[in-house]
Formats: sequence, structure tokens, C-alpha cells
Amino acid sequence: MSSLNIENKKAHKNSYQIPPNASEHQRLNRQHELIQEMMFGEVFHSPVQHPIRILDVGCGTGAVTYHLGTRFPSAQIYGVDLATIPLDPKKPDNVTFVQGDYHDLLGSEEPHIIPGSMDFVFSRLLISGMTSWPSYILTCHTLLKPNGWLEIQETEFPYYDDSGIISSDWKWCHAYQAGARAKGLDLSCAIKAAAWMRESGFDDVHVIMYCWPHGERMADRGHEEYRNLGVFLRTEQPKLYQAILPNMVSGMGYSEEEIRELQRDVLETLKVEEGKHKNYWVTFGRKPN
Ligand SMILES: C[S@@+](CC[C@H](N)C(=O)[O-])C[C@H]1O[C@@H](n2cnc3c(N)ncnc32)[C@H](O)[C@@H]1O
Repeated sequence: MSSLNIENKKAHKNSYQIPPNASEHQRLNRQHELIQEMMFGEVFHSPVQHPIRILDVGCGTGAVTYHLGTRFPSAQIYGVDLATIPLDPKKPDNVTFVQGDYHDLLGSEEPHIIPGSMDFVFSRLLISGMTSWPSYILTCHTLLKPNGWLEIQETEFPYYDDSGIISSDWKWCHAYQAGARAKGLDLSCAIKAAAWMRESGFDDVHVIMYCWPHGERMADRGHEEYRNLGVFLRTEQPKLYQAILPNMVSGMGYSEEEIRELQRDVLETLKVEEGKHKNYWVTFGRKPN
């Protein structure tokens, strides 16, 4: 496995908070299946045709990278992640994993990750790790060929119900958002992605919004494709936020007891209630010719 520029990697201290262990890999793989189910079998929405090189940034377990490798057997697919990607005997031959920081994509030692080389760059759920989105999007623009596509899929942070935002008074959300800001994360990245893409020179920017359901409400209202994701998220999201919180608020002066209190608040506020959900935004755009 080749690696990106290690010196630069140290300079951009990663703020991703979740240890890449077997249970995290299992969670990501199951989540991948359920996102695909929610999108009626699709994984991406960009109208990519006859690609030669594709990059999956922050690829996690490589679930999307494998999908792309199988879907486009004559293309070369690169998956980049800070963490080691788990070995899988089903890895298609046209998939190459590169360990490193996405801030260093332009300095990659991998000879094929170079400016103007990519037909498609994809990233999903980097909200808890990505700092400096605008410069990341500019980097993607540089890596793409003319007419190449960038697709970004992200959740939005506040929770909603049918009446609007419901998380404004949740103590843990305030702490989490302040901690994220202090670490250079932007929890509104999903909402801003389209504007950032246009500012970076992308054309044909499209946004498709899905729901990130907390429970089975969407399914009960006739959107059966959301049922399994809703069941998964109502269990997994509280666990995830409880796990991330101590790191996210570190350095902000909370005592251990106050952090435990915030973790209890996660459980209390993320009980399943009618209509509770976040939004999931798919944003894609084309680098002009
Ligand atoms: C929530 S996971 C999503 C994985 C995958 N995109 C998916 O949707 O299943 C976020 C991934 O981003 C990776 N990541 C976070 N910060 C990174 C960085 N600075 N450079 C490269 N990868 C990073 C993490 O290691 C993790 O695997």
C-alpha cells in the first residue's frame, strides 16, 4: 500500500474521533447497505460515463470503493483513508487503497492521483473528520478532468421533526457543536456543499435531499425504503454520539461528570419520537470543459 505525504499528514492533525476497529467496520458496512437501500439500490447520483479513474475519499471499509470497482470493471478505483482499510478477499482487482490524509491528495506518492486525472471523485460522511471543506473541494476540482464529477454525501447536524428544528435546546448538541467548531469541523457542511462547489468553479450542481431517519416514521408513511435504516440509526446514533462526545468536547473545560451528564442527555433526547430525523444531502457537480 502506498502512502500520501506523511509530513503534511502530521501537520493536519486528524480530528476524526471514532477508532477504526472491527465493530466500527461492521457498523460502516451495514450503514452502507442501508444507505443503498434508501436510495433504491443506487450508491451515487452523478451521471458518470465510461470513467477511467475514480477516487473515493475517506473510504472507510471501502464499501463504496468496491461497489465502484464492480460497477466500472474497466476503470481504476482509488480509495484513500487515514486508517488502514480492512483486508477483504472480495476486493476487485481494479481497486487500490492508499493510506493517508485527504488534505495531502495533491502530494500523493500514488502516481495516478495527480491533477487532471480523475473522472469522478466521491466522498461520504466525512462530517466528523473533515476540516477546511472549501480547500478540499478545490483540491477535488484540481484532481478532476474537465467534465469530471464530484459528489459529496453528508448528513446535516440538527435534528428535526415535522415542526422544524428540535435540537436547539439540547445541551449535548450545544457542547458538540462548540467542540466541533473549535476543532475546525463544520457541521453545516451538507447545506453548504453546493455553494462551495459553485465557488470552486463547478457547473451543473445538483442537490438531492434524503431523510436520515430516527426510527420507522418514514416507512410507516409509505417510504418502505427507509425502514431498515431508521431502525439501525435509532440504535446506532445515540451510541455513536455518546462515544464521540468526550473527544469532541475535549479542551473545553468539561469535568468527567459533566461529560457523563451530556452523554445521558444524548440518550434522553434521542428517544424515538414521531418524526425525529436529520437530513441527508447528496450534492454533485461537474468540472466545466
Ligand atoms: C464515517 S467514516 C465514512 C466512511 C465511508 N466514506 C462510508 O461512507 O462508509 C469517515 C472516514 O473518514 C476517514 N477520515 C477521517 N479523517 C480523514 C482524513 N483526514 N483523511 C483521510 N480519511 C479520513 C476516517 O478514517 C473514516 O474511515
